Amino acid sequence: MSASVFAHVPLVPGDPILGITDVFNKDERPFKANLGVGIYCDDSGKIPVLESVKAIETSLLQNVRPRPYLPIDGLPSYNAATQKLLFGADSELLAAGRVTTAQTLGGSGALRVGADLLKAQLPFAKIAISAPSWENHRAIFGAAGFEIVDYRYYDAPSHGLDFAGMLEDLGKLEPASVVLLHACCHNPTGVDLDKDQWKQVAELCKERGLVPFIDIAYQGFDKDAESDAFAVRLFGEVGVTAYVVASSYSKSFSLYGERVGAVSVVTADKDEAKRVNSQIKRVIRATYSNNPTHGATLVSGVLASDELRALWLKELGGMRERIHTMRGALVQKLAELGAPEYGFIQHQAGMFSYSGLSAAQVERLASEFGVYAVNTGRICVAALRSSNVEHVAKAVYAVSKG
Ligand code: LMR
Repeated sequence: MSASVFAHVPLVPGDPILGITDVFNKDERPFKANLGVGIYCDDSGKIPVLESVKAIETSLLQNVRPRPYLPIDGLPSYNAATQKLLFGADSELLAAGRVTTAQTLGGSGALRVGADLLKAQLPFAKIAISAPSWENHRAIFGAAGFEIVDYRYYDAPSHGLDFAGMLEDLGKLEPASVVLLHACCHNPTGVDLDKDQWKQVAELCKERGLVPFIDIAYQGFDKDAESDAFAVRLFGEVGVTAYVVASSYSKSFSLYGERVGAVSVVTADKDEAKRVNSQIKRVIRATYSNNPTHGATLVSGVLASDELRALWLKELGGMRERIHTMRGALVQKLAELGAPEYGFIQHQAGMFSYSGLSAAQVERLASEFGVYAVNTGRICVAALRSSNVEHVAKAVYAVSKG
């Protein structure tokens, strides 16, 4: 028998984030806690099904409909609702027809479709990604053929932003370089730019002809859905004529497995938007043909109803507040144990705490305490509960002091 073509295929290590859940599931200790993946859980540890989403789901069940293929770029009502949520109902960009939006397979799908689109138009452009960033950013843009460069972002000693370093690094990029930016709730650090810093970055992108690629996966998890879209809207306002936005409803609608995201491209005019849309459709058709129906129908149903939209915003606020409470509880427990230096966790935005724990300390968290986190020290505070925050605080204290 001849050797298999896969005889020498190397084993790829488990995914740095999703792989943690595989290991966690095999752990039989009752007090275990999965603070690896970015999933919001309620105080009983369940992933919530939002009441606003349930209302549409119930109405769909009462009127089960055939499932034809959607248009290649997705459900039109979903794309229109997504544009309004991102750019604002009174957006001049939208009124001028300068934005084209396509439904995608989650935020990751949006990043990949956007990456393929840009790679075809700018084959020699590099992409600059913050140091650090979400692990999958590098994987996605690398797989699309981009050469990746880092720009300075996180300042570990102050648990804050190295804004001077960021500006300096962005200022050295070649024109037409792509710059990946996190609109809010930076993953993994939870450290965001303030409005004035955003303005400086937007002006720099405009002056140097850079192409911003804004990832917004946590809209509504910092301040509220409108305020968290500040950066998305700002680049158009300062006059950047071409930029890409990758958005996701995984977190904000608690629809992780439905893969509901969108890629939006801001263009110079309506005609350009039409041509860019044709390119996006070409990418989607050649990658996975067209988009699934269900998740987009749920989201567009909620956003189209004034009543359900208001309910969703309230539910989103509830998730945001619970995360804030859990941050406070973790900080307080750590302070009571004798580790007040973790106070910075309270000020990080979004689902994560970039704790500063080393890979070895994270390993001890899992092996000794059944507390799973990302080996960069990222802890998903959105999965903490009143019933386990003390256990987690004791575990963090033990590995950081021992
Ligand atoms: C995360 O960062 O944990 C989430 O965005 C889930 C994922 O796909 O990695």
